[in-house]
Amino acid sequence: MRIVLMGPPGAGKGTQAAAIAGHLGVPHIASGNLLREHRASGTPLGKQAGSYMEKGLLVPDQVVINMVLKRLRRDDCQRGFLLDGFPRTGEQAEALDKALAPRGVQLALNIAVPADELVHRLTGRLTCRSCQTPYHQVTNPPKAPGRCDLCGGELFQRDDDKPEPVRKRVEVYERQTAPLVAYYRRKGVLRQVDGKQSIQKVQEEVLSKLAR
Ligand code: AP5
Ligand code: MG
Repeated sequence: MRIVLMGPPGAGKGTQAAAIAGHLGVPHIASGNLLREHRASGTPLGKQAGSYMEKGLLVPDQVVINMVLKRLRRDDCQRGFLLDGFPRTGEQAEALDKALAPRGVQLALNIAVPADELVHRLTGRLTCRSCQTPYHQVTNPPKAPGRCDLCGGELFQRDDDKPEPVRKRVEVYERQTAPLVAYYRRKGVLRQVDGKQSIQKVQEEVLSKLAR
């Protein structure tokens, strides 16, 4: 399975990804998670990306394309993968198609959520420093305050989950990434998911669309 998980920042991509990837037995590859790992380890790529990420801007295409395509060449992707947060521009989508030719992306799942809901979700989000699982202070809290249910890691607020970068990310999404919905529709691989439902309901809808 070669699946792309799409949707605006805060749509629930990271929240749904573990269940989907586990169900399909493929790795979950999130460009944002890979970039944050580079930032945390202080690599040159991480330093370059950080200046864009903290402002809510996209990291330059060539940096992200090289990073993600390198990850897709690893053995665990032979049977497929679930991409989260990539592609995000026309240039990235074309680079992915080229790398996967002649087969291309099999399914693009778009989790749709209205913009007014995104700000509330993102500014209240807590993320595990260790495994990057997302939580929400009010709507999806961890069992033990400040600790990840899955790995016990410390929860923190991402620097781009403050109001100003959140606003910027939603704007950047509308301008640079939303057009990819039409791109995948034209290719006949787009499936829409109503992301405004509860986390559980969204998961059920995603899994039923995968089963078809
Ligand atoms: P990235 O990490 O990909 O962030 P994003 O796309 O902005 O997406 P998020 O992770 O914010 O949202 P999500 O959809 O995963 O939502 P989540 O499940 O956490 O990218 C970060 C940055 O890296 C970018 O800004 C850019 O700088 C750079 N970058 C990454 N990829 C790039 C690329 N390809 N090209 C260039 N630059 C790139 O859920 C959010 C919150 O909502 C949580 O609190 C959760 O508990 C809650 N929630 C989830 N589902 C529900 C629900 N159904 N009901 C109620 N609450 C819910
Ligand atoms: Mg995410």
